[in-house]
Amino acid sequence: MATLEIKDLRAGVTTDEGRKEILKGVNLTIRSGETHAIMGPNGSGKSTLSYAIAGHPKYEVTSGEVLLDGESVLDMTVDERARAGLFLAMQYPVEVPGVSMSNFLRTAATAVRGEAPKVRQWVKEVKDEMTKLEIPAEFAERSVNEGFSGGEKKRHEILQLALLKPKIAILDETDSGLDVDALRIVSEGVNAYKDSGDAGVMLITHYTRILRHITPDFVHVFADGRIVESGGKALADELEENGYVKYVGTTV
Ligand SMILES: Nc1ncnc2c1ncn2[C@@H]1O[C@H](COP(=O)(O)OP(=O)(O)OP(=O)(O)O)[C@@H](O)[C@H]1O
Ligand SMILES: [Mg+2]
Repeated sequence: MATLEIKDLRAGVTTDEGRKEILKGVNLTIRSGETHAIMGPNGSGKSTLSYAIAGHPKYEVTSGEVLLDGESVLDMTVDERARAGLFLAMQYPVEVPGVSMSNFLRTAATAVRGEAPKVRQWVKEVKDEMTKLEIPAEFAERSVNEGFSGGEKKRHEILQLALLKPKIAILDETDSGLDVDALRIVSEGVNAYKDSGDAGVMLITHYTRILRHITPDFVHVFADGRIVESGGKALADELEENGYVKYVGTTV
């Protein structure tokens, strides 16, 4: 069992024009076994929330708490957060020229698991997961995300998820830019991860189509830096129908 508690989280950035508050008091609890979909207008702060939890240095937390099983995540380094069981699949995955996918995955798995995986077992594990995600073998020797298409990058995020098996996974628009077949494959990857253990998922998305493959237990509307409404799956359909008009401009 794992629980991620986000309590009154406030965070922002410092720009040339000064301080900019982006998160304005986010409250959310995700328990293992639960999938929470976060939906909201562009620029409302969804990616900032994921970065603040993962520990991106650009985003300064000004108040509030993020607890993983009662431990303060905000006091941990980025590495420690990953080792504690947090995973972020980024909206725009970064390219790392000169580092092969296979080296990157092994290094990450070694860090998260606390010991280097046995070579033969590891090769099989990676190969199996790549096959499931229909990722051609040659990608293992390509530099991390370099020159990958949008959809290829997203599949590789799920490959990491499958291999690292975090307690809590934050998936930031993992469905964006996927063709229908890739959407199904990626969704199956997320569902397999959910089924493989007691995992909690925060799924940031703009589209209900992924929610036909991955069933959310909760849907939250994110507007102007915080969650302004929560409900079940039906809320996603309502948002698709009516948009965010009723939520925008209503927050302080
Ligand atoms: N490093 C930064 N410098 C200046 N402004 C920033 C920075 N990062 C985020 N912002 C601003 O904060 C707001 C929230 O951005 P964020 O990326 O979190 O939105 P989002 O909800 O993920 O949007 P989208 O749905 O388009 O992905 C935006 O107005 C954005 O321009
Ligand atoms: Mg975003």
